[in-house]
Amino acid sequence: MEYNFDEVISREETDTVKYGLREKLFGSKDVIPMWVADMDFRVPKEVQDALKARVEHPIFGYTIQSERCWESVVNWLERRHNWKVDQKELVFSPGIVPALSLLVHAFTKPEDKVLVFSPVYTPFFEAIKGNGRKVVPHHLQEVEGKYTIDFSVLEEQLSQGVKVMIVCNPHNPSGRMWTKPELQRLVELGKKYDTLIVSDEIHADLVLWGNKHTPMATVSEEAANRVITCMAPSKTFNLAGLNASYLVFKNETLQKQYRSVAGTLHLDFGGTMGTEAMIAAYTYGEEWLEQLLPYLERNISLVVNFIKEHIPEIKPMVPDATYLLWLDCRALGLDDVSLKQFMVEEAGIGLNEGRLFGEGGKGWQRMNLACPKSIVEKAMAQLKVAVEKRRIVSQ
Ligand SMILES: Cc1ncc(COP(=O)(O)O)c(C=O)c1O
Repeated sequence: MEYNFDEVISREETDTVKYGLREKLFGSKDVIPMWVADMDFRVPKEVQDALKARVEHPIFGYTIQSERCWESVVNWLERRHNWKVDQKELVFSPGIVPALSLLVHAFTKPEDKVLVFSPVYTPFFEAIKGNGRKVVPHHLQEVEGKYTIDFSVLEEQLSQGVKVMIVCNPHNPSGRMWTKPELQRLVELGKKYDTLIVSDEIHADLVLWGNKHTPMATVSEEAANRVITCMAPSKTFNLAGLNASYLVFKNETLQKQYRSVAGTLHLDFGGTMGTEAMIAAYTYGEEWLEQLLPYLERNISLVVNFIKEHIPEIKPMVPDATYLLWLDCRALGLDDVSLKQFMVEEAGIGLNEGRLFGEGGKGWQRMNLACPKSIVEKAMAQLKVAVEKRRIVSQ
C-alpha cells in the first residue's frame, strides 16, 4: 500500500499537545506548530484497523502483555536492529519519561549524581532533579557540525562518583547517532567507575540516510550487563497518545530492582489500546516505515538546502536520525526571549526553545519536520521573509 504523507490532516479537534497548547505556549493559535515530537501523519492502516477491531469488543477490562505482544517486540528488535532479546528481558512501561524517573528512583539515592549529555531532551533533567538527585551535565562539543563527547572530561566527571549516566541514542535534539566505538568507550568508562548506563533509544527506528542503529547493550558483554535500554513504537509509528513502551534488561538483577519500584506503582504493565497498537505496528508497520523515512529525509534536505541558500544566519545540524532539526540561531544576535518572540511573532512558527535543553542550548531552536511538505514549505517561506525584514531593520 502506498501512503500519502503529503495529506494535510486537521488535528484541531483532537485535544493534542502540539495544537491544543499553542495559545498557552506561544500566545497565538496561528503559529505553525513544529515543536513537540509527534508527527502530523496518519498511522499505518493495520494499526488503525487493529484499534477499530478491538473497539468492536464491548469490554475494556485489565489487559496483559501476552506472548503475542512480546513476540512482536522480539521479532522487531531482531529484524530491524539485529538484536536478539528474550521475552523475559522485557518490561512494559506506559512511557519512557516515567520509566526514566523510575530508573533514577530505583538505582540512586537522594543527592546521588546522574550524568547527562547536554544539550538534551528536557525531561532527562526533570527525572533527575524531580527525584532530588544531582544533574552532572557533560557538555557536548560541536566539531565539524556534529556533537562529540570529550572523553577525558567525561572520565574526570565519572571519577567524582556518578551513579548513573543517561545516554540518548539517537540523540535528541541533534539527531546524532553515537558510533559503536563511542558506545564501547562509554561502557568501558561505566565499568571502570561502576556507573550504571540507561540508554534511551526511543528514536532508534527513525534512522536516516541508510544509517544503522547500534543498540548500546549489544556493543560488548559488559554492555549487556550494565546497560538498561528504553525503547518504544511511539516515536516510530506516531502512537505517543497510546502510552506503550518498554525496557530491555539483559541483566536480571537490574530488572528485579527496577520492578521493585515500577511494580509497586503498577507502572510495569499497560493499557488495552496501546498494547494492540504496539502489536500491530511491530507486526505490520514496516512497509509504512520504509515509506516514511525517505519522506523525512526529503523534508530535512529541503530545509537544510533552503536555509543554506536563503537564511545563512541559521545553521542546521544535519541529523543522522529522527525528524528533529537542531538549528543554531546564534548569528541572529537575539537573546532567548527575543529569539522566541521572533520565531512566533515574526516568522509565525512554534519551535522548541534551545535553552530548555540545558547548557549548550542557548541560541538554538528545535524544529519538528514530521509534517507534510507543504507545511514545511510554508514555514520556510515565512521564516525567510521574517529574517529578510530583520536584516533591513538592523542595517
Ligand atoms: C529521547 C526521548 N525520550 C523519551 C521521549 C518521550 O517518551 P514517552 O512519550 O514514552 O514518555 C521523547 C519524546 O520526544 C524523547 O525524545
